[in-house]
Amino acid sequence: MGRKFFVGGNWKCNGTTEEVKKIVSTLNAAEVPSQDVVEVVVSPPFVFLPLVKSTLRSDFHVAAQNCWVKKGGAYTGEVSAEMLVNLDIPWVILGHSERRALLNESNEFVGEKVAYALAQGLKVIACIGETLEQREAGSTVDIVAAQTKAIAAKISDWTNVVLAYEPVWAIGTGKVATPAQAQEVHLELRKWLQTNVSPEVAASTRIIYGGSVNGGNCKELAGQPDVDGFLVGGASLKPEFIDIIKAAE
Ligand code: G3H
Repeated sequence: MGRKFFVGGNWKCNGTTEEVKKIVSTLNAAEVPSQDVVEVVVSPPFVFLPLVKSTLRSDFHVAAQNCWVKKGGAYTGEVSAEMLVNLDIPWVILGHSERRALLNESNEFVGEKVAYALAQGLKVIACIGETLEQREAGSTVDIVAAQTKAIAAKISDWTNVVLAYEPVWAIGTGKVATPAQAQEVHLELRKWLQTNVSPEVAASTRIIYGGSVNGGNCKELAGQPDVDGFLVGGASLKPEFIDIIKAAE
């Protein structure tokens, strides 16, 4: 079975109630390929999840941007995976580079989080990616392999995992990876999965690209054989997100 194209919109820490309503109404009015062709998941900040979930069209789904690694309790400021399940939120983004960099989330901690979220029944968009310094040092593949290894060490079932390759230097910078650069890393990741997990997991796991994807560059990126979709930041707040969803056509 082929890998269904996946388009995620990570709204990050953006939006007011009015802005969120406007984005949802734009999405609801859009004509896009059917959910047999493309899986669309948008990720508002926690506080807007119930609003978005209750007003968004039923063929699009929602994701949280993080969740805690243990059952709830004395963890001020955290939101548990169980709470997301309780609210019927199907997806969660974990290991985003902004959390790795700003909140010191290590590879091992991200691996633990992915395993915990999956065990609670959530589907996970697991993010990995190298910094500019690491790319320039020629260690891109080693870095993303180490990040993937820390996840693989904690999970045995990849069915509900989407791997998001997001080079840090391309995030929010307008400096998108070229289709060839993205394809090269995605192929390396697929080879890594093939050797270290299984050929089946390598063939079926969606590897999506994130980093300055927009309505203008999405088509060419989507044409790469190992690019199975996108995780979109800035452009997911704009009407051009619809064009990105259509890149699957
Ligand atoms: O999660 C999304 C990525 O951080 C990409 O963000 O599209 O604004 O570069 P961006």
